[in-house]
Amino acid sequence: MKATMALTSKDLLGIKGMSVGEINLILDTAATFKDVSERDIKKVPALRGKTVINLFYEASTRTRTSFELAGKRLSADTINISTSTSSASKGETLLDTARNIEAMKTDIIIVRHSCSGAPAFLAERLTSSVINAGDGFHEHPTQALLDMFTIREKLGRLEGITVAIVGDILHSRVARSNIYGLLSMGARVRLCGPATMIPREIERTGAQVYLDMDKAVEGADVVMMLRLQLERQAAGLFPGVREYARLYGLNRSRLERAGKSAIVMHPGPMNRGVEISSDVADHSSVILEQVTNGVAVRMAIMFLLSGGGKAETEPAKREG
Ligand code: CP
Repeated sequence: MKATMALTSKDLLGIKGMSVGEINLILDTAATFKDVSERDIKKVPALRGKTVINLFYEASTRTRTSFELAGKRLSADTINISTSTSSASKGETLLDTARNIEAMKTDIIIVRHSCSGAPAFLAERLTSSVINAGDGFHEHPTQALLDMFTIREKLGRLEGITVAIVGDILHSRVARSNIYGLLSMGARVRLCGPATMIPREIERTGAQVYLDMDKAVEGADVVMMLRLQLERQAAGLFPGVREYARLYGLNRSRLERAGKSAIVMHPGPMNRGVEISSDVADHSSVILEQVTNGVAVRMAIMFLLSGGGKAETEPAKREG
């Protein structure tokens, strides 16, 4: 089969609808960029002269920082805008803010927003490339891509593996993007959580639903834990944090049910002692490797959206 050489859209809005060729192209390109972050001089000239804007309407540590570092390591000019210090706090609309930013001649705008569909809304109206950095309960595509990159790096493949995703599936954009991506790459996906946190008809995607966590992790190659969104406890979706931890928390004895070389993942931020024990998080997980890989994957995405083909990974030449 002929390898995919370019992304088909100017934007990256979700994993749903992406081809296997496009996912493989991003993962392969990320592999060529990973080494840049290990060098003394962590910079290549691939996006020199391009302008990248991080437009975040929700809090973030990993995604925002890694997009900023990714842009800088590609030699782009990278600016962060947070709503608390921008004119959004004075009532400016999302579209007016984005149009004003684009008027300063931007190339890539990265958007995180609490409304599902906000990045797609902007992508239709802007000429800059728009990247979805997490929108409402919809998708978090770059997280799923870095998760798939990490799994492929650790296990050597995605096809045929079994991934158990455990927690609040209903509200998780990370879960949704991973379900689409992992299933299209040929993995088996098990979803586990309280019945109130499993979306209706999710089995139509091809994922299997489990309410018993011991059964969900049995023989799994990957156990992916999700953050319990404590802010939603008022909605009465689960009886209490202690009960949740007992039924759906990953601890050492539960992990022993998974495959011998199973890897444990979490997108962060994690609630220690709730969905994951500190022992498992600190001694038996690839959580920090996921974060490291996030930079390479985001470099690859911005490079490809800017029309890059073969990755330029030679160090930047000294100016002047
Ligand atoms: N995984 C993730 O999206 O983390 P942040 O909210 O810190 O960006």
